[in-house]
Amino acid sequence: MSDSMRSVSGVSRREFLKGSGAAAAATAVVGAPLVAPAEEVAGLVRGSEEVTLTVNGKKHRVRIEPRTTLLEVLRYQLGLTGAKPVSTDGCCGGSTVLLEGKPISAATTLAMDCVGKQITTVEGLGAKDEVVQAFVHQDAMQCGFCTPGFVVAVKAFLKKHPNATEEEVRQGLNGNLCRCGTYVNVIRAVLEAVKGANHG
Ligand code: FES
Repeated sequence: MSDSMRSVSGVSRREFLKGSGAAAAATAVVGAPLVAPAEEVAGLVRGSEEVTLTVNGKKHRVRIEPRTTLLEVLRYQLGLTGAKPVSTDGCCGGSTVLLEGKPISAATTLAMDCVGKQITTVEGLGAKDEVVQAFVHQDAMQCGFCTPGFVVAVKAFLKKHPNATEEEVRQGLNGNLCRCGTYVNVIRAVLEAVKGANHG
């Protein structure tokens, strides 16, 4: 056999395949499982660990699993219920929060991915926030269920488009849905905030 057919470990490809076949045959004979036992797989899914999340400028120790969403942590561990669990695919914008200043769907973001990043919820904006004030002033809500998501989305939108026109506002907020159909007043509120022109 030529040297080129021999690996650096000194085992040829043919010898390796022969060995693998023998091992597979032996496994089949004794009936050993070819995949990880169910309890091990379940253990992986159930596994949890403590991490620190920074929400609205404060650090929180929380226990999460790899599958835990940011929305679950915010609502059920930290009691921040502004972001809403409206749709599991985040298509309605009800769970919008800011991650490093950018709007994301907390319903479809894993909490693990938020470790070490700044998370801002509607609670972090506060009642005196200009967008919150504009929503109140323009009566831009009915049941209010969609309002926190809208307010956070508007906050991020105005930071990027401080002089937005009505058309741009309509385009920019098309990821947020309102079942009560309060869009006219929402747009008025955003335009009022545009005139306020303090979108820091
Ligand atoms: S105000 Fe009711 S869903 Fe928007």
